[in-house]
Amino acid sequence: MLEKKVAEIKPFRGGDRLQSGIAGLDELLDGGIPQGNLVVLSGDPGSGKTVFCWQFLYEGATKYNEPGVYISLEESESTIIAGAKEFGWDLQKLINEKKMKVVVVELYDFERLKNLIEDTIRSINAKRVVIDPGVIFRLFFERELDARKRIVALGKMLKEIECTTIITNEISLDKQSSLYGLEEYVADGVILLYHTKIGSHFIRSIGILKMRNTKISEKLKPIIISKTGVSVLVKSDLFLEEQK
Ligand SMILES: Nc1ncnc2c1ncn2[C@@H]1O[C@H](COP(=O)(O)OP(=O)(O)OP(=O)(O)O)[C@@H](O)[C@H]1O
Ligand SMILES: [Mg+2]
Repeated sequence: MLEKKVAEIKPFRGGDRLQSGIAGLDELLDGGIPQGNLVVLSGDPGSGKTVFCWQFLYEGATKYNEPGVYISLEESESTIIAGAKEFGWDLQKLINEKKMKVVVVELYDFERLKNLIEDTIRSINAKRVVIDPGVIFRLFFERELDARKRIVALGKMLKEIECTTIITNEISLDKQSSLYGLEEYVADGVILLYHTKIGSHFIRSIGILKMRNTKISEKLKPIIISKTGVSVLVKSDLFLEEQK
């Protein structure tokens, strides 16, 4: 009986990993994000969520030949393109080459949005998807149960078409706020970006809370945001004991 059960469990194929494109991060993830995972990227305002996502898409399209779709609520396509250009990432070129598409969400019904996302992904055979910010979902639903059901359906669709997805989640500095429990019930991974107060200033850092099928580093690591984007200082540690 036990033998049969063991035989039924599909071994994880360790090779199917996506390089995040964030310098140093894959070392904390045993090589990368398992392909098809849905990852929630949580962080306080200005912690670098959007820059992380642009980099994930840009590097994916340019280095790994994996087209990407960026779904945005707040910003117009031209604002996004201009913002990414600050880091030297030419999204317009990727859009022209059909390696990227930007969807700016309008508030129609969620089913239409889901179909639009699916059509857009299929039109360029995208492998990476970003929904930034995930708070988009709050605008569609009044009832939590509705939200959960629909978000689960969206996650399922993204998995079926073999996309690896990042959904950003803004949390306030003093209180962790969940996207309808998205982290617990649908996300395969949760990555946290922090501003940690050390003495009189903030140190940026990153931590992996969970990543299914992956041996993760349990340490918070410092990050820097520079004109080349986000880098994880994998060899350094945070000195939390100095925190005041
Ligand atoms: N060229 C640059 N060099 C260094 N740091 C930069 C540069 N451009 C932006 N930043 C930093 O990156 C951060 C912006 O991060 P980002 O917009 O990705 O945050 P976010 O988590 O998405 O914020 P929000 O919750 O407001 O959407 C800012 O704090 C800014 O200081
Ligand atoms: Mg942002």
